[in-house]
Amino acid sequence: MSPNFFDQWKADVLTQVDLGLDQWLPKVDQVPTTLHRAMHYAIKSPGKRIRSLIACASGDLFGADIEDVVHSAVAIELVHTYSLVHDDLPCMDNDELRRGKPTVHVAFDEAIAMLVGDALQPLAFKVLVNQQTKLNNEVRLRQIQVLSESIGSLGMVGGQAIDLSQIGMSMTQSELEFMHSKKTGALFLASAELGALCGDVSSTSSRELLRTYAHQIGFGFQVVDDILDATSPTEVLGKSAGKDLRDNKPTYVTLFGLDRAKEMAHEIAENTKSTLRLLPKEGGYLDDIAKLVFDRSH
Ligand code: IPE
Ligand code: IPE
Ligand code: MG
Ligand code: MG
Ligand code: MG
Repeated sequence: MSPNFFDQWKADVLTQVDLGLDQWLPKVDQVPTTLHRAMHYAIKSPGKRIRSLIACASGDLFGADIEDVVHSAVAIELVHTYSLVHDDLPCMDNDELRRGKPTVHVAFDEAIAMLVGDALQPLAFKVLVNQQTKLNNEVRLRQIQVLSESIGSLGMVGGQAIDLSQIGMSMTQSELEFMHSKKTGALFLASAELGALCGDVSSTSSRELLRTYAHQIGFGFQVVDDILDATSPTEVLGKSAGKDLRDNKPTYVTLFGLDRAKEMAHEIAENTKSTLRLLPKEGGYLDDIAKLVFDRSH
């Protein structure tokens, strides 16, 4: 896709996702106002919205209407933001900066930050149930199944548990890949699946390729996140740089060193390109998204 074409599509999609988030979030003046202000604070801060783009590009590839996919993207952003708010809590990564702003527990307090996550998560499922789209009940049910399975103890939250249990420990490459594929990859996979489910998913071979792409890019996203933690300054990252090393976190950089981590990220990017070549339309916008993921500075 030509860069201008992709940039225009991306801007349009993200405008619609932001409108969708506004539509589904309770208003800030609705009681309890502090909780609702904190939910808006977390969601409206400038995230990259990569998972939304993956959902919308996957939907596009499978012939879905963007108006239908936007609600799936909203659900995913709600879950993703909940995961970040909890990830930053003192009992987890204890971070004070997120998306260039004080984390929710710093700007509000710890109890509110916990409740923000608790409220965003069910809101995501409310969106999937009540979305004003053409999707039939069978598809909605499948979307709920995919999202709920991807973020539970066998998915994202399980990955987070492994991350915390391995502080200060050594892990093999396959153990690290397993952890990254859970804590970050699972939601990327769900994003692609939810988007594709809005379209025609009768081609099992394309669907399997999409899953391979989503696995590669999700796992690769976390490897790049590990690298950026060690190489990008706080002002660029919008979160505290060098935190993984300080906290003794098992990451691709802390376990294999920066040079090897960069080589590994490059290998995953090449594997992702090979998958894209096999997809219909060579993956369409998914190709541009892969470039965003592997060439980013924050
Ligand atoms: C951060 O995700 C958490 C990880 C899985 C590494 P993003 O880097 O996508 O966060 P935002 O949404 O852009 O802030
Ligand atoms: C977070 O991973 C993964 C989830 C929130 C599920 P990290 O702890 O590496 O994310 P950052 O670096 O704080 O964004
Ligand atoms: Mg973490
Ligand atoms: Mg963290
Ligand atoms: Mg990180």
